[in-house]
Amino acid sequence: MKLVTAIFKPSRLDAVIDALSEAGATGLTVSEVRGYGRQLGKTEVYRGAEYEVRLLPKVKVEVACPAASAERYAEAITQAANTGTIGDGKIFIYDLDSIIRIRTGERDEQAVSG
Ligand SMILES: Nc1ncnc2c1ncn2[C@@H]1O[C@H](COP(=O)(O)OP(=O)(O)OP(=O)(O)O)[C@@H](O)[C@H]1O
Ligand SMILES: [Mg+2]
Repeated sequence: MKLVTAIFKPSRLDAVIDALSEAGATGLTVSEVRGYGRQLGKTEVYRGAEYEVRLLPKVKVEVACPAASAERYAEAITQAANTGTIGDGKIFIYDLDSIIRIRTGERDEQAVSG
């Protein structure tokens, strides 16, 4: 099992959800997060003064899936979240021990099957 976690621009959330759904994801979790990449946030001007915004708003999407699906989901996210500009985000793929569907006790592939 794998956990595919993507952090990207909030404006791309609907497109990413659509892409993951089309790629076969049967569930996902969305969180609002803040972070920075190598540009260390951007500088914003407010009432004539410059403010350093260290943490920019991003969204995090997590999909737990069979290992064989992880690359397909990562590719779907990469295409849907890409605007070609800095701050487009990153995808992290983790090894995941187990998935358990609480209602039935089903595990792993059965727990995320449609
Ligand atoms: N090494 C990291 N570890 C954890 N989260 C990260 C890391 N790098 C980036 N992030 C998260 O991803 C968000 C977007 O990162 P970002 O796309 O700016 O990365 P980057 O490496 O600077 O690439 P780019 O040059 O395309 O901007 C950050 O705001 C942060 O939430
Ligand atoms: Mg960046």
